[in-house]
Amino acid sequence: MIRVDVTLPGNRSYPVLVGPGASAHLAEVLPGRARRAAIVTQSNIGHAVESGLDQEVFAIDDGEAAKSMATVEGLCRSFAGWGLTRGDVVVGVGGGVVTDVAGFAAATYHRGVAVVHVATSLLAQIDAAIGGKTGVNLPEGKNLIGAFWQPSAVLCDTTALETLPEAEMRCGLGEMAKYHFLGGDDLAGLDLEDQIALCVGIKARVVADDEREAGRRAVLNYGHTLGHALEATGGYGLRHGEAVAIGLVYAAELGRALGRIDDERMAEHRRIVEGYGLPTGIPDDADDAELLAAMGRDKKAVDGFTFALDGPAGVEVVAGVEVSLVEQVLDRVR
Ligand code: GLY
Repeated sequence: MIRVDVTLPGNRSYPVLVGPGASAHLAEVLPGRARRAAIVTQSNIGHAVESGLDQEVFAIDDGEAAKSMATVEGLCRSFAGWGLTRGDVVVGVGGGVVTDVAGFAAATYHRGVAVVHVATSLLAQIDAAIGGKTGVNLPEGKNLIGAFWQPSAVLCDTTALETLPEAEMRCGLGEMAKYHFLGGDDLAGLDLEDQIALCVGIKARVVADDEREAGRRAVLNYGHTLGHALEATGGYGLRHGEAVAIGLVYAAELGRALGRIDDERMAEHRRIVEGYGLPTGIPDDADDAELLAAMGRDKKAVDGFTFALDGPAGVEVVAGVEVSLVEQVLDRVR
C-alpha cells in the first residue's frame, strides 16, 4: 500500500492510500468520534465496504444526471431520517459522480459532516476524490453549485479497476496524460499503482499551494478548456478523458503558436496522448463557432480567453489569449 499525504494550510492533512484492497483500511481512517457511517454509492458500483460502525447504504442514481440538487436533497433527507449526526461520517464509494455528490451532501448536511472517499474509478482516484472539490450540476451548466470540503481520507482501491469498464478507464487516462505535463515526466515507466500514487502526489502539491483555486490550482485544468467545450457542445461520443486528451493537444498547439513551447515539446504531447490510445483530433462534426463560444464561457475566463498553457516555467494560467489565435489553432487540431 502506498500512502500519500495531502497537507493543507492550518496544519490540516489527510492520507490517501493507494493499492489493492485499500478499502479494507476504511475503519482505520474514520474519525474516532463517529458512531454511524452513511455509505453513499450507486447500485452498479458493487464495491462493498466495512466501516466497523453502524452503517447504512444510500444508493444514488447512475450517471451524470444524478449530480443534481434533487439527489442531494434526497440524500440529506435520508440521512436525517436515519439519524446521522454532525459527529458521524459520510463515506462515498464510487467514481467522480459519487464523490462529488457525497462530498457536497457531507459539506452541507448539518453544516458539515466528515467524509471519506473510497474511489473506485481511475478518474476518481487521480482527480475527483482528491482535493476537496464537491458539487452538483444545474440545467445551466456543470458543477455550478459546490463547496470545497476536504475528505478525512481517500482510499484508492486498485482492485476496483480490474473490473472497471474500458470506457471508464479511458475517462481516467486523459487525466493521467495531463499529469505528464504537470511534473509527471516519469509516469510512463511505472506500474499502475505507482502511476496513481504519483498523480495523487502531484495533485496534492498543487492543492496544498492553492486549496480554493485562487490561482495556481487552475493548472489542474490543463487541456480542459477545449475538453469541456467539446463536452458542452454535444460530446461527440467522447468520454471526458478523450475530450481532455484532444484538449491537451490543442493547448500544446496554442502554447507553440504563442512561442511558449517548441516543436519537440509539442510532439511530446501528441506522443503521450497517443501512447494512452487516446484521440488527438477534434471530431469532424464539431463546429468552431460553438467551440469558441463554449470556451469563452469557461469558469476560468475572467479576461477574454483564458487557458492553462505549458511554457518554460511549466504549465501556467494565461489570460487574454486573442480570439483570432484561439480560432486559428482549432484548425491545427482537426
Ligand atoms: N479537477 C481539478 C481540481 O480539482 O482542481
